[in-house]
Amino acid sequence: MISDVLRNPAQLFDVAGKTALITGASGSFGRGVALALASLGANLVLASGSQTELDAVAAEAESLGAKVTCIARRPDTLEDAQAMLDRAIDVFGSVDMMVVASGFNKPGFIQDQSYEDWQSVMDANVRGPWFLCKAVGSYWIAEKRKGKVLLMSSVRGRHGNYSGYGGYCASKSATDGLTRVLAVEWAKYGITVNAIAPTVFRSKLTEWMYGDNEIGQQTRARSLSRIPTGRLGEVEDLIGMAIYLLSPASTFCTGQIMYVDGGYTAA
Ligand SMILES: NC(=O)c1ccc[n+]([C@@H]2O[C@H](COP(=O)([O-])OP(=O)(O)OC[C@H]3O[C@@H](n4cnc5c(N)ncnc54)[C@H](OP(=O)(O)O)[C@@H]3O)[C@@H](O)[C@H]2O)c1
Repeated sequence: MISDVLRNPAQLFDVAGKTALITGASGSFGRGVALALASLGANLVLASGSQTELDAVAAEAESLGAKVTCIARRPDTLEDAQAMLDRAIDVFGSVDMMVVASGFNKPGFIQDQSYEDWQSVMDANVRGPWFLCKAVGSYWIAEKRKGKVLLMSSVRGRHGNYSGYGGYCASKSATDGLTRVLAVEWAKYGITVNAIAPTVFRSKLTEWMYGDNEIGQQTRARSLSRIPTGRLGEVEDLIGMAIYLLSPASTFCTGQIMYVDGGYTAA
C-alpha cells in the first residue's frame, strides 16, 4: 500500500491557514520568512521595534495575499512576549509557528567592551527568545496544542571568531543549548524546537562587513575563504530550511541546529 504522504509529499509543506508569530520581522531573515509564509497562505503576526518598517513588510505580505497584524514591540520583557501571543490569539484565534528572527550583535574585544554592551547582545539573542518560548510554549502546553519553534542561531554558536564576538558567540551557543533542552522537554507535547545556524548572510546586521570597515572586511573575507560553495548567503538561501522546520515535514526533527552555511562547518 502506498501511504498518503508518499502519494502527495507536497502536503508535508502545507502551512496554509496556519498562523506564524515572527519577531525581528523588519530584518532580513524575518522579512524573508514572513513573505515566503505569506506566499504559502499563512497568517502573520509581525513584531519588531519599528512600526514604520513593519508596515512596509506587512504591505508586501498583504500583496501576496496574507492576513497580517503588526505589533511594534521587541521581546524585551515577558509582558512584550505575552502581548505578541495575545495579539495572535485575538486576531487569528491561536498561533501555530514561532520564528524568533530578532537578534543583534555589538562586536567588541573583551579587553575593551563594557559589560553593558556584552549584556545587550545576550539580552537580544538569549533573553528575548527565552521570554518568547516561555510565553508561547506555556500557552501551547496549557491548551494542548502542537507548535513549531524556529530560533536563529549561527555558525558562531559552534565556532569562535577573531573579531570581538565574546558576546555574539556566547549568545549563539546559548541559543543552541536552549534549542536542545526545549526540544527534549517539549517533545511529549508535540512541540518541535529547531534552530537555523547561518554563516554570513547579507543583512543590516552584517552591513559593517560589506563596507569600508577594516575588521568587517577581514571578517567577511575570512568567512568567504572557508566556504566551499564560494559565496556568502542571501536570504533566499535559508527559506527552504525555514519552511521545512515550520511545516509538518519536520514532525520527527527536533532539537537540531541546522547549518545553512555553504559547507562552512563541513570544511
Ligand atoms: N545575517 C547573518 O549573517 C546572520 C548569520 C547568522 C545568524 N544570524 C542571526 O539571524 C537573526 C536575524 O538576523 P538578520 O541578519 O536578519 O539581521 P537584521 O536584518 O539586522 O534583523 C534583525 C532584527 O532584529 C531586530 N533587532 C535589532 N536589534 C534588536 C535588539 N537589541 N533586540 C531585539 N530585536 C532587535 C531588528 O528590528 P528592530 O530594530 O526594528 O526591532 C530586526 O528586525 C539574528 O538572530 C542573527 O544573529 C544572522
